[in-house]
Amino acid sequence: MFRIRPRRLRKNSSIISLTQENWVTAEDLIYPVFVQAGSENQAIKSMPNIYRFSLDNLLREIEESMEQGIRAIAMFPVVEEEFKTLSAEESYNPNSLNQKTIRAIKKRFPELVLISDIALDPYTSHGHDGLIEDGKILNDETVKVLALMALAQAEAGADIVAPSDMMDGRIGAIREALDANKFFDTKIMSYTAKYKSNLYAPFRDALGSLGSKKSCKENSDIPKDKSSYQMNYGNSREALRELELDIAEGADIVMVKPAGWYGDIIQTFKQNSTIPIAAYQVSGEYAMIYSAYQAGYIDLEPAIIESLTAIKRAGADLVLSYFSRHCLRITQKIK
Ligand code: PBG
Repeated sequence: MFRIRPRRLRKNSSIISLTQENWVTAEDLIYPVFVQAGSENQAIKSMPNIYRFSLDNLLREIEESMEQGIRAIAMFPVVEEEFKTLSAEESYNPNSLNQKTIRAIKKRFPELVLISDIALDPYTSHGHDGLIEDGKILNDETVKVLALMALAQAEAGADIVAPSDMMDGRIGAIREALDANKFFDTKIMSYTAKYKSNLYAPFRDALGSLGSKKSCKENSDIPKDKSSYQMNYGNSREALRELELDIAEGADIVMVKPAGWYGDIIQTFKQNSTIPIAAYQVSGEYAMIYSAYQAGYIDLEPAIIESLTAIKRAGADLVLSYFSRHCLRITQKIK
């Protein structure tokens, strides 16, 4: 008969749990949140159950998240149209919504790890992550603004700054600016392999950063998409090149984004580096799972746990997910 039977370890739920290799826990989760200037929360059509919070409600949301065990949030501001310009000056304004929110959060929750996003898209009228001249995204000029932005956020109290723009050389330039201003302990979580994905659409809806499409129609000088800076999803070796550069330039944490369809890239990062790997389960991944549930096609809670466990299994040390709180409600109920 058969001597070796893998099914022995699948006999019941206790032995299955004892031999499970990867788990999603509160320690690994980073909860992305949106903040806006109004006093009422706003629903986001393409992201059911996710809100653009008013500052007061965001503080309450963070308090409840921390009670569940969440230690880190990634914050994204919804910038009002009147503050959007071609040169994105609002991005480094010390009194912007983003900087004010950082100060308010860190005052109330000093032990929370606050991750602040660095990219120009919420602040440019066209919604691109860079400055534009003659129809081209300007790399080095954009990086100068990103460094100013990092300083403004570090001054406001951000623990980690997270460049999500994909300009060349930005990690080194930001590290240099931070160090020159004695922010030696401000960490950089780099969006190292950020692919040009269709899965960011709900996020752009949340932020109102869809400008690029609109102004593109009106103005042929605006690039029609982000393909001159975000990575081609047909490539994996290129991600290694970005990884080598970001580590050499001083990144503390590197990220793969999106997460679910990019498990191979997460695994490659894990095998080729010694610093923590983050993976971002993005807005479109959230929307796909949630809308399949709403249509009655899949069960929500097991799908949430499966999707996040798969990202851990690929090799992610940290996972950014809009499902963070929902995930902990499920796992803490099981416990
Ligand atoms: C832009 C940015 C994007 C996301 C995070 N930062 C979208 C984009 O590149 O257009 C997407 C996050 C998500 O989809 O959840 N700097």
